[in-house]
Amino acid sequence: MTPVVQHAPAFTPEEAIRIAAGYYGLAVSATPLPSERDQNFRLRDTSGAQFVLKIANSEEALEILDLQNKALGVLGAADTGLVWPRIVRTLSGNPVVPVGEAGGQAYFVRMLTWVDGVCFANVQHRAALLASLGCALGKVDRALMGFSHPAANRKLYWDLRHASLARPHLALLADRRRAQVEPLLDAVEALNWSALPQSVIHGDANDYNILVDEAGAQVATILDLGDMVRTATVCNLAIALAYVMLGEQDPIAAAAQVAAAYHRERPLSDAEIDALDTLAGARLAMSVCYCAWQLRHAPENEYLNISNRPAWQLIEKLAVFPSGWARDVFRRACGLDAPPTPGALLVSRRKHLGPSLSISYREPLHIIRGWRQYLCDSGGRAYLDCVNNVAHVGHCHPRVARAASEQMALLNTNTRYLHEHLSAYLERLTATLPGPLSVVYLVCSGSEANELALRLARAHTGREGVIVVETAYHGNTNALIDISPYKFDGPGGRGRPAHVTVVPMPDVYRGRHRKADSGARYAEYVASAAMAAPPAAFFCESALSCAGQVMLPAGYLRNAYDAVRAAGGVCVADEVQTGFGRAGSHFWMFETQGVVPDIVTLGKPIGNGHPMGAVITTPEIAASFANGMEYFNTFGGNPVSCAVGLAVLDVIRDEGLQENARDAGEYLLKGLKDLAGRHPLIGDVRAQGLFLGFELVRDRETLEPAADEASEIVNRMKERGILLSTDGPLHNVIKIKPPLVFGRADADLLVDGLDGVLRG
Ligand SMILES: Cc1ncc(COP(=O)(O)O)c(C=O)c1O
Repeated sequence: MTPVVQHAPAFTPEEAIRIAAGYYGLAVSATPLPSERDQNFRLRDTSGAQFVLKIANSEEALEILDLQNKALGVLGAADTGLVWPRIVRTLSGNPVVPVGEAGGQAYFVRMLTWVDGVCFANVQHRAALLASLGCALGKVDRALMGFSHPAANRKLYWDLRHASLARPHLALLADRRRAQVEPLLDAVEALNWSALPQSVIHGDANDYNILVDEAGAQVATILDLGDMVRTATVCNLAIALAYVMLGEQDPIAAAAQVAAAYHRERPLSDAEIDALDTLAGARLAMSVCYCAWQLRHAPENEYLNISNRPAWQLIEKLAVFPSGWARDVFRRACGLDAPPTPGALLVSRRKHLGPSLSISYREPLHIIRGWRQYLCDSGGRAYLDCVNNVAHVGHCHPRVARAASEQMALLNTNTRYLHEHLSAYLERLTATLPGPLSVVYLVCSGSEANELALRLARAHTGREGVIVVETAYHGNTNALIDISPYKFDGPGGRGRPAHVTVVPMPDVYRGRHRKADSGARYAEYVASAAMAAPPAAFFCESALSCAGQVMLPAGYLRNAYDAVRAAGGVCVADEVQTGFGRAGSHFWMFETQGVVPDIVTLGKPIGNGHPMGAVITTPEIAASFANGMEYFNTFGGNPVSCAVGLAVLDVIRDEGLQENARDAGEYLLKGLKDLAGRHPLIGDVRAQGLFLGFELVRDRETLEPAADEASEIVNRMKERGILLSTDGPLHNVIKIKPPLVFGRADADLLVDGLDGVLRG
């Protein structure tokens, strides 16, 4: 038993009834209420009026009870919009009375009127409620601004100024947990407290002390003034925020809503806003440390473990965000550093940006920060990014950002000079590929890579023709639009050029061949095309992206490559979307087909957002291209790009991201398949690692595409904070290709969100 708990009173309900009768002249029934260090009884008299009988811990000093009573008087008289309990005096007119227990120990007893309400912890935290809480806290702090009491100038364990009192308990935590908590204490110890205005605060607006009206829309009152203390005023808000964030999917955004409403009532200074996240973090740290200490004294207390869990979950969740993220969100929520409004940005975009570009979502997003698998909008809301395969190792990975900025500050030239980053990168990149693929051209985009691949193939074969797969997209240049049915057969397209042959998409769900031999069957179209018009190249993605996340059936590329090579053509694997470990089982998606291409093209993930691309081919093809005309690329392969490329490869290796793609991909695939079992709208689910898609159909027999539904789901998921997008020729496939740091917990969130949206 912990010392404070040891001093808790232990009156029976009968004794409480006797106290009510003897000291207050009330005939009541009594029900015990939970309290750790005091004892509280809910009383009801014969007229139905209700009270709380509060029997203080024997350690509690009389002046602390006086502080609470006086503060209640101030709050009751102020315009806080809340209902405050009134003090019921004894028959002899005293607000506090000492009462003896059977054992002889004396305890101070008070009686308050009852306030109805539901615990904040037990209601859904809608935006209106969060705003109401912020407003209530702001009003309470304002009301107590001029209040003083000698007892408030005490040294209280829970005062965030004394967070370091929790430090000795760090030793009770497991290493991993200590590593998460220690920085929270370091941060609060480094705060400049003299910059923070002080006043007496409530100090314990936790989710069980905040009562909400029956509708769950408004805060009714804030109970338990037992932790009142004079300290930095902003601590009151910070303590509340620590509890507001518990269990929230987007804790920082929820806290920001409370902070913004608070700021409207009691404007926070810059220093206060900047201290908020540190102070809230300190409260969490103190809470888990104190709990570890309590558990040491009462290891059998399962309740302590359970109540501690949400705090740990929150600490883990917050640890994911880079330092300064929450502070920036709070600043913007409070109207500081206000970003331009989305409306203004749209106007200038419409005026000056080429109009042949669409924007995502019905209500466009204004994204201002990225971190790992999250994006943050200008309103401070975090989104789980399930589609961005460019931010391959996670948005704004610090190792990649550091590699770029350090090299940028040192030197950025071109490939006409020797440079160790260039040589190292060429070695490292080719080491990931099968032997014959040993010659690299470094370029600046996926389009440049495919454009060059086309030139290489044409130079090597002396031919023009290209075989491509239905709905393929290979890039935005003239030559690539000509080999991209997605474009030339799409809006504004001018149809298939004569030198291009389009073969059917090897789709085993909707296509002509759906049986075990479908790989070979679909490859026959490539073979006949190659025979009819021997091509320079066969371009094919190793899993089809724009075509709607279509996985190639087994044997497709092997048979197709054999046929193309037999006709003297070159096989190009477009790995722009699929490469760098996304496949999970293999580093390159073409490896899942057991083939070795003649040319591989890379883009998107290669630089984690830095504009890079690469073409890798055999020495023979490279020799055919070396006809005297130089290939120079001003930016391709510059030292900054090579430093970035190396950092990306390092992170994939050091963080085990290919393995994570396998694990999280398989886990998500199972989740999506289970979902398809419950929702007939999902006709097909397909995946290889973290490259997944699911196709929506109105009828599983006719496969009538559900494009409107797909678009609706994507927009509704965005409202839930999860970013997805649609693709496929019928616009009915929802694609999933997140940064490779996407884990099982993210998969759960995604599947739960989809389930919710699909249930309507
Ligand atoms: C399969 C594929 N190839 C090539 C490209 C062109 O890459 P970039 O936009 O970097 O030029 C894309 C872009 O979406 C692509 O998806």
